Amino acid sequence: MRARQALTHPSVNFVGVSDLVAGNASALAGKVGAQFHTADNLEVIARPEVNAVIVSTAEGEHMKPILQAIELGKPVLVEKPIALSVADADRIIAASEQAGVEVRVGYSRRFKDLRWMLAKEQIAQGRMGRVTGISARLFNNRANGIAIMTRDREATPLVDALTYYVDIVNWMLEGARPVEIVARGQKGVLKAAGFDVDDINYAIITYSDGTVVNLTVSYALPEKYPALGHATRFEMLGTEGVLIIDDDHTDQIMYTNKGIPHVYLPGHEVNMVFLNSGTPGDWALGEFYGAIANETRAWLDHLVTGKGCHLATPREARTTLETTLGIQLAAETGKIITLPLPG
Ligand SMILES: NC(=O)c1ccc[n+]([C@@H]2O[C@H](COP(=O)([O-])OP(=O)(O)OC[C@H]3O[C@@H](n4cnc5c(N)ncnc54)[C@H](O)[C@@H]3O)[C@@H](O)[C@H]2O)c1
Repeated sequence: MRARQALTHPSVNFVGVSDLVAGNASALAGKVGAQFHTADNLEVIARPEVNAVIVSTAEGEHMKPILQAIELGKPVLVEKPIALSVADADRIIAASEQAGVEVRVGYSRRFKDLRWMLAKEQIAQGRMGRVTGISARLFNNRANGIAIMTRDREATPLVDALTYYVDIVNWMLEGARPVEIVARGQKGVLKAAGFDVDDINYAIITYSDGTVVNLTVSYALPEKYPALGHATRFEMLGTEGVLIIDDDHTDQIMYTNKGIPHVYLPGHEVNMVFLNSGTPGDWALGEFYGAIANETRAWLDHLVTGKGCHLATPREARTTLETTLGIQLAAETGKIITLPLPG
């Protein structure tokens, strides 16, 4: 998706792709029309035509190609989460800041239609007053959760999926930081499928300015639940306003005997579907629209024109990672966890 978006950007005239699995790289290059492909990340990062790098490897494989790109002075867009440990995130931040090479993290929810940007805008305009509380709930089907954890067992629903809404909350509450976490969970079908994670987690987070946040995630909904990605409810309360985002996608329903495919899970097909629920976006009439498309374009526009950029910074992504690891620890131990986590 990123490669295809990049190739259609007017300022891009060369795209090279790499994948550990050589067949994946050549298949992708053929599909999107990339000019170069290899099984060696450094080979493509070092190409003289390449002056910006998108790291879309699996969650635990982000750091090395980011550091390689930074060393060669090439700005990076990396998929979320920035890394799977705070120590790795710190290495990326240190390398980026020392070299003066910009790294951005693809929290693409920020770019899903205009709803999240508009929420942020209301805060910026002072229409919410002081935000006193936020509640965000994320649902997805178990097939998605199992696919992600099969790629990387540490990419749990908390660290890899709720992370989007921790990012959104932290972004809305810019200036305050999470300081205390209480969380609980219950196991069920994901454990039965071989992954020692909860089916459902509830967390309450207190921020440094006293704002309270309630986060819920379940990646254990029935496999054929009609949402083909995130189904979300978001509520924000302030001293002067209340803002509700209904992102469950129940406003666009279709049933088809022919089956409709998942946007990126091969073989996953449903008959009943909430249209527009694909997390990265959706295909329509040969084009890819939605969060990833908007975000990739915004990043490229920023690099080319120098205009402002609303993609997450590595420092924001580090706080978000630490928060999700803190929720996980709070749920596992039943204890109140304070942030920062001990090093
Ligand atoms: N923003 C979004 O909407 C969104 C959606 C899905 C995934 N993601 C993120 O994108 C990243 C990748 O997820 P995916 O669903 O594309 O995974 P995937 O498993 O479909 O693809 C990952 C690819 O990376 C390759 N790979 C793994 N390690 C590598 C390495 N060290 N060097 C080169 N290639 C390597 C694999 O062979 C595979 O082809 C993750 O960080 C994930 O969280 C973001």
